[in-house]
Amino acid sequence: MFMRISSKDMQKHLVNETIDAITAAAAVDAKNVPFDVQRVRSDFPILSLHIGKNPLIYLDNGASAQKPLAVIEALARYYREQHANIHRGAHWLSEEATRAYEEARVCMARFLNAREPRECIFTRGTTEAINLVASSWGSANLFPGDEILLSAMEHHANIVPWQHVAERTGARLRIVPLTPEGELRVDEFHRLLSSRTRLVAVTHASNVLGTINPVAEIAAAAHAAGATVLIDGAQSAAHFDVDVRGIDADFFVFSSHKVCGPTGIGVLYGKADILNAMPPYQFGGDMVREVDFERSTFREIPERFEAGTPNIADAIALGRAIEYVRALRPAGALAHEDALLSYATARLEAISGLRIIGTAPRKVPVISFLLGNTHPLDVGTLLDADGIAVRTGHHCAMPLMKTLGIGGTVRVSLAFYNTFEEIDRLADSLERIRRMF
Ligand code: ALA
Repeated sequence: MFMRISSKDMQKHLVNETIDAITAAAAVDAKNVPFDVQRVRSDFPILSLHIGKNPLIYLDNGASAQKPLAVIEALARYYREQHANIHRGAHWLSEEATRAYEEARVCMARFLNAREPRECIFTRGTTEAINLVASSWGSANLFPGDEILLSAMEHHANIVPWQHVAERTGARLRIVPLTPEGELRVDEFHRLLSSRTRLVAVTHASNVLGTINPVAEIAAAAHAAGATVLIDGAQSAAHFDVDVRGIDADFFVFSSHKVCGPTGIGVLYGKADILNAMPPYQFGGDMVREVDFERSTFREIPERFEAGTPNIADAIALGRAIEYVRALRPAGALAHEDALLSYATARLEAISGLRIIGTAPRKVPVISFLLGNTHPLDVGTLLDADGIAVRTGHHCAMPLMKTLGIGGTVRVSLAFYNTFEEIDRLADSLERIRRMF
């Protein structure tokens, strides 16, 4: 969890401080964090790339994080030494691949604090996991007049699947509004929650604003009202230890590629009794118990939701990624991210005309901003010319942009392998861009 230094305090501080003094203060902070960022960076080959003559400064981790050698090598090793189809073969290699795949599932359960590994279903990612729940749980549990409660800060992946199932079932969406700082209006959440609410689906952390939502409190209230709860962990799993039992989430979803794992794989966590009561989402090999031409019966979780040959290699490499990031956390990775967020916020706030969008006190290391009237895409393109990778646009959250009355933002999203020097380079580039317009 991250507690940002209050931006107002930081602003006051900045009035009398030079940028050098801030850099020095951050260096002192950094010394207090026992985290060797340069050693960690050497695990990520891509971080030594140059874009033209500039070293790459990768600040687009909210879109996708980079991969350590441990993950790259796990993928290569799998195809070199372990590959066969799983759950099927009578031969050694199939057993070896099955063992490695199921070990990855055990690793997911440990990472999320699930009760049992079978509660972790491998999917293609967050988007497929939400579609699975919307399609399977939604079609069996939503009826005309039922309500699905979302927040105004949701990613399209946690809006459109619900819209689609609502149209088919006669349910309707209700939207919890936000405060000016970009926090979920908890008072409005309680007002909108009723006996009609069948599902509450909210993001753990906003991909645009960085806001961390009080998901345990939301889940407790939703359960008291008789609703089921899905938490979108796409932006949280990379930044703090998730505890699905502590949250009491019925469903929790995340994507591998944002947690330093491969693309094309992710996890749907669900409580075993809920998942086993849901109809299958896809049908085919491995998920069936008995097949006749007249009818078929289906297995329980996890196979129930993993029809066909799964993405074996990427599941195993995701397991490796999770082991990698979990090992860094006690060594100070999260405190380093926290310090980076405070430092970057202070440096960006000091730039004349720069407005940060999303100033909640509890944030993951994501900073969206506007630079005067300059179009976000222009800012992104000019930063790219300096080797700095950020995301610009609506960030797959068009309804949020409409709520904020803006077309898009520039977004800096940090990871544990970023450095204070990279943030200095970002701030210097933004100063130069500001003077151009
Ligand atoms: N959802 C990802 C992002 O926020 C792609 O950039």
